[in-house]
Order: sequence, then C-alpha cells, then structure tokens
Amino acid sequence: MASLRSVVATAALFANSVYAGKRTVPSLAQVIDQKSFNVLPTVPPAEEYNASNSPWTPPGTTAQNLTDRPFHIYDDEFYDILGPNPTFTVLAQTPKDPIFHEAVVWYKPTDEAFFVQNAGNPDAGTGLNKSAAIYKISLKEADAVKGTRNAVGKVTVTQVKSTPEIPNPNGATQYKGQLLFAAEGQGPNKAPGLIVMNPLAPYNTTVLLNNFFGRQFNSLNDLAINPNNLDIYFTDPTYGESNNFRPAPGLQNQVYRYNDKTGAVSVAADGFAMPNGITFSPGGKYAYITDTGIWRHGLELSNPSSIYRYDVKADGTFENRKTFAFIDTNIPDGVHVDSKGNVYAGVGDGVHVFNPSGKLIGKIYTGRTAANFQFVGGGRMVIMGETQLYYATLAAKGEFVESQL
Ligand SMILES: *[C@@H]1O[C@H](CO)[C@@H](O)[C@H](O)[C@H]1NC(C)=O
Ligand SMILES: *[C@@H]1O[C@H](CO)[C@@H](O)[C@H](O)[C@H]1NC(C)=O
Ligand SMILES: *[C@@H]1O[C@H](CO)[C@@H](O)[C@H](O)[C@H]1NC(C)=O
Ligand SMILES: *[C@@H]1O[C@H](CO)[C@@H](O)[C@H](O)[C@H]1NC(C)=O
Repeated sequence: MASLRSVVATAALFANSVYAGKRTVPSLAQVIDQKSFNVLPTVPPAEEYNASNSPWTPPGTTAQNLTDRPFHIYDDEFYDILGPNPTFTVLAQTPKDPIFHEAVVWYKPTDEAFFVQNAGNPDAGTGLNKSAAIYKISLKEADAVKGTRNAVGKVTVTQVKSTPEIPNPNGATQYKGQLLFAAEGQGPNKAPGLIVMNPLAPYNTTVLLNNFFGRQFNSLNDLAINPNNLDIYFTDPTYGESNNFRPAPGLQNQVYRYNDKTGAVSVAADGFAMPNGITFSPGGKYAYITDTGIWRHGLELSNPSSIYRYDVKADGTFENRKTFAFIDTNIPDGVHVDSKGNVYAGVGDGVHVFNPSGKLIGKIYTGRTAANFQFVGGGRMVIMGETQLYYATLAAKGEFVESQL
C-alpha cells in the first residue's frame, strides 16, 4: 500500500512539473521575487507615495512589462491557479465613459456576462444624474478571441434597459435563475434596494427590499447568497453620499441579512469604515467582507483597505472576525472565491489572489483599477477596468451557488 501511494504521489508531482521541482512559467506570466524589494535605496513618505499612486512597480520591472506579462507569480501556489496556458485579452474599450465598472454576473442559460457603469462619475458625461447603465456581452464571442491580446472591436457590448430602471446598480449575483442587483439609489427619493432583473428582454425588474423598518438604506453596494440558508447578505456603505448622489446617511455603515421567505431583515455585522465586497467560501463555512474605508471622504490613509473573514455558524450568524488580508494597491472592492477556496479581490492594479490562509500568491495585473470581476463559468473571468474590458482564462474555476444559476 505504502509503495503504491508513493508511486501515485510521484506521478502527480511529475504531471505538475516539467523539470525536477521547477515549474514552467507560462508565456503570459512572470515571477516576482518579493526579496527584491525588502530593502529599497530610498523609501518616500506617504505624502509622496501612498495607496492612491500609480501601481506598484517592483525593482527591475517596468509598467510596460508588468502589463505585457500580466500574470504575476508571487508564490508557487499560483501555478496551479494559472495552469500551463492562461490567456488575457482586452475585449473592449471606451475613450472616457467608465462603463466597465462593477457587478459582473454570469447568466448561464444564454452564456452572457452582465456588468454596470460607474455611477455618478463625471467621466460618464451626464453628471451625477446618470443612473448607472447595465451592459452585457456574449461569452461565445469572448471565447472566440481569447487567444489574442487585443480584440477591441470584435466583441459586441450591448446596453440593457432595466424596466422599471434599477437606480444605480452596483453589485450583482445569480438569484433563482435571474439576476439580483444591489442598487445604491439616487437622490433623496429613489431608495436603495435589492432588485431582481429578468436577464431576458424586456429586462423587467421587481424590488425585493427597499427599507429597514421604514428607513432608507444608505447606498447598497454588494451582495452574496449564503449557500446553506439561501439568505441574501448585503453591504451598505455611504458611497452614494461620498459621490454626491445620495443624502447624508440615516444608518451606520453595516452588513445586513435578508430572508425572502419570512421577510426578516437583520444586521449581520458592523464595525466597518466602508463595508464593500462580500462573498462566501465554497460550502459557506466562511464569509469574506472587504472594508474600503481608506476611501471615504477622499483618501484617509489610516483607515482599512482590508479583507475580513468571518466564521459562518449553522444559524447563519457571523462570529470570529479575522483580518484576512490588507491590500497594497488602493482598495479591495469586489471579492470572490474559486472552487478551492482561494480568495480573489479587485484592487487598484487588477485582481489579487490569496490562498485560503490569506497569503498573497499572485496578481492578474491590469495596471488600473479593477473595481470588480467575476468568474463566468469554469475558469473564465471577466474583469472590469473602467474604460477597458478584460477577459482571462485560468485553470482555477469559479464557485457559484448552483441552485441559483
Ligand atoms: C498620496 O500621494 C499623492 C501623489 O504623490 C499625493 O498627491 C497625495 O497628497 C498623497 N495623499 C496623502 C493623503 O498623503
Ligand atoms: C522588464 O523590464 C526590465 C527593464 O527593462 C527588464 O530588466 C526585465 O527583464 C523585464 N521583465 C520582463 C518579464 O520582461
Ligand atoms: C439633476 O437633475 C435635477 C432635476 O432635473 C437638476 O436640477 C440638477 O441640476 C441635476 N444635477 C446634475 C448634477 O446634473
Ligand atoms: C418579468 O415578467 C414576467 C412576465 O410577467 C414575470 O413572470 C417575471 O416574474 C418578471 N420578472 C421580474 C424579475 O420582474
């Protein structure tokens, strides 16, 4: 028995490696040696170099070659995420309008990815009254160009008119075969809420929840379904106020839980500066919530830019908040997991990948803000880059609540 086990183990080792213990670096990847920047010749003060600056460029690299080989291996565990031949493609771009911003969600029956525009951004060209628009692409079209780096013009980006219109959707997930959005609201009279949209024309919508015992939420940001009780958990920071399209907050910044059978709404967690992205681990043992308090009223560098992990109990409540990771480049906005429980965060220079213990193992580098991204079936990933739309394919696979697809 023992010898059979060791033969199997040796075979597995060889299947994963080309030369004794040394893995082949995929053509679009590069190894970043963290020892190379432990000691720098000069270290500038925060007023000159801080989380908001252009992305971290390790010694010996340039912005250009970080982008040329966008998969950055920080730890050997990242080879298993990438597989031998990861791909990375620019699918579309706009000159200015930040239409590739948030809420990436896969609709399995038509194999499309939906996403939304950056609400209230002056570059949207219509001032703060623009209610974020929803767009979609066909993943069949994306798959057809995945072998090229630049496929701009080859993939159609279609706008979808939700009816009644969802006021500033910002987070999305699958829900009972449809799409569920966290809407930030607009002005004092369009309340934030959880709104379901039919993913097929005429894209009609139904509001599930728009208040907490008669009080408006602040500006709902993101949401996730607990795979065990199917309750909807959602974050409510005050970015609507920060971005001047919602009034002063009426509630503290916190995370809620909604049970659609009983209608019960309760608070799942508080103690955040700006609770933002939320997700559950495969099987629902953990919840991950990002705190992006570093951006609240402008840049507040001593606030969190962190991912926290909670244990999720059988009754759906959270306990044991643990500091899971702190982000080096701007904020961790969207957060998602793969089927093995690795944690991915959309940050200031792309998508950072952490193993389940919170170790940074690699980056999918875009060189610009990636507020959100999502796996869209298997190892396919759509990444938002504000004016750039990216598509990556990996060996790792996304994790979904199957009953909701
Ligand atoms: C962060 O760095 C930028 C660019 O150097 C600088 O303009 C800004 O004032 C800094 N912010 C803080 C809060 O120090
Ligand atoms: C990146 O550029 C630097 C400086 O030109 C060079 O030394 C390094 O080998 C390049 N790395 C890659 C992966 O191309
Ligand atoms: C938004 O719309 C209102 C009412 O139409 C108008 O008074 C206001 O000036 C608009 N604000 C911006 C920033 O466009
Ligand atoms: C959309 O309309 C159809 C037909 O009336 C209805 O069955 C469906 O529940 C609606 N979906 C949403 C999300 O409102």
